[in-house]
Amino acid sequence: MNILAIESSCDETAAAVVEDGRRALSSVVASQVEEHRLYGGVVPEIASRRHAEAISGVVRQALEEAGTPLSAVDAVAVTCAPGLIGALLVGVNFAKGLSLSAGLPLVPVHHLRAHIAANYLAHPELEPPFLCLVASGGHSHIVRVEDYTRFTVLGRTRDDAAGECYDKAARAMGMPYPGGVELDRRAARGNPDAYRLPHPRVEGKDGAPCYDFSFSGLKTAVVNLLHNAAQKGEAVAEDDLCASFQKTAVDMLAGNTLRAAEASGLRTVVLAGGVSANSGLRARMEEECRRRGYALYAPPLSLCGDNAAMVGAQAYYEFRAGHTAGLDLNACATMPIERAAF
Ligand code: KG4
Ligand code: ZN
Repeated sequence: MNILAIESSCDETAAAVVEDGRRALSSVVASQVEEHRLYGGVVPEIASRRHAEAISGVVRQALEEAGTPLSAVDAVAVTCAPGLIGALLVGVNFAKGLSLSAGLPLVPVHHLRAHIAANYLAHPELEPPFLCLVASGGHSHIVRVEDYTRFTVLGRTRDDAAGECYDKAARAMGMPYPGGVELDRRAARGNPDAYRLPHPRVEGKDGAPCYDFSFSGLKTAVVNLLHNAAQKGEAVAEDDLCASFQKTAVDMLAGNTLRAAEASGLRTVVLAGGVSANSGLRARMEEECRRRGYALYAPPLSLCGDNAAMVGAQAYYEFRAGHTAGLDLNACATMPIERAAF
């Protein structure tokens, strides 16, 4: 089954053709990041306009590169939630038009489910159930993936997402948006024990186990540290600060994920989302999972960020579960990952 998939939830316009949920025949990503960098973050109105300009060409290119004419496509899939509403609407409306004109079923896909499914493209042997850390610019979830279309959230961030925290700390140090990658690179050159940063642990109600995150304190600590140093005219060893930040963020992400894995009894752990590209997180999880005898999976770097191949992968399983939509499909800025019926 060939699925033409479309992704436009944030600042990448992407299209891909995916065969049977596991093989990407093409994957085209048109990034707008250079333009948003001028403003230090994504400007929603600009994102919507650029999606509208790029989408036809990106979809055509994905079909051409796959060598798949529209007549050989069996369904159209699109990210419909969560994300920037104006950006999502461009993809959703394009997919609806294509589905109507070509007489193809329409498959709505949840963006975080798609991030998880990026792993199915890279790891043919991977099947649910497994425990997954999904960390991106907008979300940080620990999810029990029961089967391809059933999810239970075990932990979530109470404030900032992990990627957002990376980007804001990087921005405070003067790095261009999105600074997560550069902060990661500079962390490798610094001393992780140079600065002591807060490591909040979110408590459960009445001492119940809790796997939630809180990243805003870490971000504020970096901003305050830089501010105080500037006021006193003191120099900050930025590579050391990057390394100390990375150590703290990775401690939080890996610590909660491993505690949740232990409690769940699942012995397969999966990383997903933009932050799963982080070198410190990958190294730490590899070491900890090896020590515990867990199988660890992460997408290749090319599939960690937003792309449409992952949307096509998840769409295959949504279609098989009967999760298709009519032309009344709408985009939603927020939607829990558990919700199946669109
Ligand atoms: O999944 P994604 O591409 O978009 C969203 O759905 O949000 O995630 C983007 C986020 C950004 O915050 C970016 O800085 C972060 O992932 N990111 C990283 C790294 N690569 C991307 N954060 C830390 N280390 C990295 N190597
Ligand atoms: Zn994403």
